Amino acid sequence: MNTENLSVEDFAAWAASELEKVDLYYGHGSQDAQDEALWLASFIADFDYGDFEDGWNKVLTADQVKLGRELVENRIKTKKPLAYLINQIWFAGHRFYVDERVLVPRSHLGEWIVDCFEPWVNISRVSSILDLCCGGGSIGISAALYFDNADVDLADLSKPALEVCQHNIEAYELTQRVKTIHSDLFNNVHNCYDLILCNPPYVSHVNMAKLPQEYRYEPEMALVAGVEGLDSIATILNHCAQHLNDSGSLILEAGTAAPALEAALDQVPLNWMMSASGESVVLVISREELIEYQTKIAKLGL
Ligand SMILES: C[S@@+](CC[C@H](N)C(=O)[O-])C[C@H]1O[C@@H](n2cnc3c(N)ncnc32)[C@H](O)[C@@H]1O
Repeated sequence: MNTENLSVEDFAAWAASELEKVDLYYGHGSQDAQDEALWLASFIADFDYGDFEDGWNKVLTADQVKLGRELVENRIKTKKPLAYLINQIWFAGHRFYVDERVLVPRSHLGEWIVDCFEPWVNISRVSSILDLCCGGGSIGISAALYFDNADVDLADLSKPALEVCQHNIEAYELTQRVKTIHSDLFNNVHNCYDLILCNPPYVSHVNMAKLPQEYRYEPEMALVAGVEGLDSIATILNHCAQHLNDSGSLILEAGTAAPALEAALDQVPLNWMMSASGESVVLVISREELIEYQTKIAKLGL
């Protein structure tokens, strides 16, 4: 590659062609090699991912090209997700700091946070939110940014993850209304909320063994949840009603455990929210429904 007068566009084309030569997994913040090359190019050129109208024709300095080459080589050699190599991820239109203490944020919930979960949630009734299993805080912090009058608590069992979360809360200057709680699911959560958001671990042991190398850099406790992937979800569904206000709801990502959950709760009419990509792995359930179906939900185990 001729590194003289290289534009962002030229660099992105080169990076995509290099990434495409090898067997890499995408899905930790990018869709494919092209998408990842654009993200990487925007990072080295120091503009926001997506802001290509301004950034596309920028000419890169020699140092920027060197950094970009090193990142491409490193990504290929280690298969480490790009987010960890550059300590950033874009989620629901906002940038977050990430490192290997937390899962790389990619929850489906990001698709709906930007619209405050309408029509499932009435924004005027939401003044308190819990992000349970918060990791680096992308869901709860994004919720605080879109529900700009709500107080938001973020809970996780991992202290290292909560350190990253706190860093992100401070970066967005949200310390007045956003707080972390160190808690094993609801054990140390003492409040009730209008909205609980949760992207828990939901990978079954069998699926965990099949995941590509990229996932091996993520904390195992952020992914694995028992034989069917339902261990955390079962406890959450069983205890959630106690932590919701009267008209409150839980929005829960079940991911690859969605079919097992659907089968285990076949007597319960679960309301799956369909994503733009056609996936139905996030469910919305009200406090009333959690109480109405509690006997059936209890069969999931505690
Ligand atoms: C799938 S990750 C989601 C992280 C973040 N919400 C996101 O979407 O990027 C699951 C999170 O649950 C946390 N976790 C695992 N077991 C937990 C437990 N028993 N209580 C609270 N958090 C737990 C992990 O530390 C991890 O941060």
